[in-house]
Amino acid sequence: VTELPSAELPPRAVVPVEVDGEEYVVWRGATGVLGSAPRRCPHLDWDLAEASVVEDELVCVGHGWSFDCHGRAFKRTESGRVDPKDDIETLRLEESDGFIAAAR
Ligand code: FES
Repeated sequence: VTELPSAELPPRAVVPVEVDGEEYVVWRGATGVLGSAPRRCPHLDWDLAEASVVEDELVCVGHGWSFDCHGRAFKRTESGRVDPKDDIETLRLEESDGFIAAAR
């Protein structure tokens, strides 16, 4: 289990975390929900610590794949079509008393 202060994750922030020797990112969506993903994008390995948060989703700066807070991945095309991708691993996140506990 890795703990990080809630203050490091205001809405739309993304932080890299290491849990059990593996690298992940944790983000907070615009509505306050927490999401997590492996740090390397499943598409072509871009660093998701550089990704941006749009509403509650994390969006890779590489080629725009999006990740929701439940481990679902997809690509939104310019025409508005949503192409699902394989699910990704997520962390178990629990927030209390000003800290977020992240576990695999
Ligand atoms: S590397 Fe993330 S979308 Fe391509």
